[in-house]
Amino acid sequence: MKVTVVGAGNVGATCADILAYREIANEVVLIDIKEGVAEGKALDIWQKAPIDLYDTRTVGVTSDYSRTAGSDVVVITSGLPRKPGMTRDDLIETNAGIVKSVTEQIVAQSPDAIIIVVSNPLDVMTYQAHISSKLPRTKVMGMAGILDTARYRAFLAQELNVSPKDIQAVLLGGHGDTMVPLPRYTTVGGIPVTELIDADKLDAIIERTKFGGGELVKLMGTSAWYAPGSAAAQMVEAIVRDQRRVFPVCIRLDGEYGIENCYLGVPVILGKNGVEKVIELALNDDEMELLRTSRDHVIDVMNVLDRLGK
Ligand SMILES: NC(=O)c1ccc[n+]([C@@H]2O[C@H](COP(=O)([O-])OP(=O)(O)OC[C@H]3O[C@@H](n4cnc5c(N)ncnc54)[C@H](O)[C@@H]3O)[C@@H](O)[C@H]2O)c1
Repeated sequence: MKVTVVGAGNVGATCADILAYREIANEVVLIDIKEGVAEGKALDIWQKAPIDLYDTRTVGVTSDYSRTAGSDVVVITSGLPRKPGMTRDDLIETNAGIVKSVTEQIVAQSPDAIIIVVSNPLDVMTYQAHISSKLPRTKVMGMAGILDTARYRAFLAQELNVSPKDIQAVLLGGHGDTMVPLPRYTTVGGIPVTELIDADKLDAIIERTKFGGGELVKLMGTSAWYAPGSAAAQMVEAIVRDQRRVFPVCIRLDGEYGIENCYLGVPVILGKNGVEKVIELALNDDEMELLRTSRDHVIDVMNVLDRLGK
């Protein structure tokens, strides 16, 4: 299996490293526009192979898309990250241009690739990649839900002093402050979380999760990369190994949850064909209301993209 990661910055290089050392692909191509950066990082990852004992070939290239030809999966991380004081939506104009041009060049070389978008604003960059790729919706998806859910699970594990491995949860909606938490679907070793934690503590964790990305931007002056890189690699793994994992993934909704033509995070089954199935949960009125608010926010940003002329 061949996987290309576009953008050799913090998230892209982290993702490529995980794909290599976990041998998720036979070959990983890292591509960037900054001369030498992708080559250097790919070489560094390859020089780690004798230490960490893996065979994945890692190749770095500057803007030469011919080297990405025949990729099975492509992860798009190219674009500006947030700086303190910025929202993800502030990145739209610059990143839309980048995602459009990258997607067109990727699809020209790898018409059968499945595309995972990471660049922000995530839901709308997935929209951009989808229209630029002209691929079916099941083959163009965004990574956000695994990360948001992981943050929520990590905070819960810390609060309850249990293993993060035992916390199962799902968050829906857009990647941002309007994400939709579902405590009803959160369990700790099979036990509903509401039996183990006070409502006010759970609310505080949900609030922290909503602003989890911003918390890190404030601390580091740029956005996170370890968990985002890992989350993208986990999606690649589910696809290349046809694992049929159940993850929250951003995809265009075509009537699911009563929502049309909007890119939102929902639980899906992820396998060799990309999104194998969108899972529709029976949301209660409050949850549905939150999902509609999230939809309205994403549609506002999609409209901004439409006005920019994508
Ligand atoms: N979806 C998520 O949950 C999530 C999480 C973290 C970061 N992000 C987003 O991912 C993106 C990357 O973040 P980062 O921290 O890796 O940023 P970064 O600045 O470290 O890396 C971005 C890289 O993209 C490259 N690039 C720019 N234009 C390019 C082009 N046209 N072709 C190829 N490469 C190009 C840059 O040279 C740079 O190396 C940002 O938009 C960020 O907001 C999303």
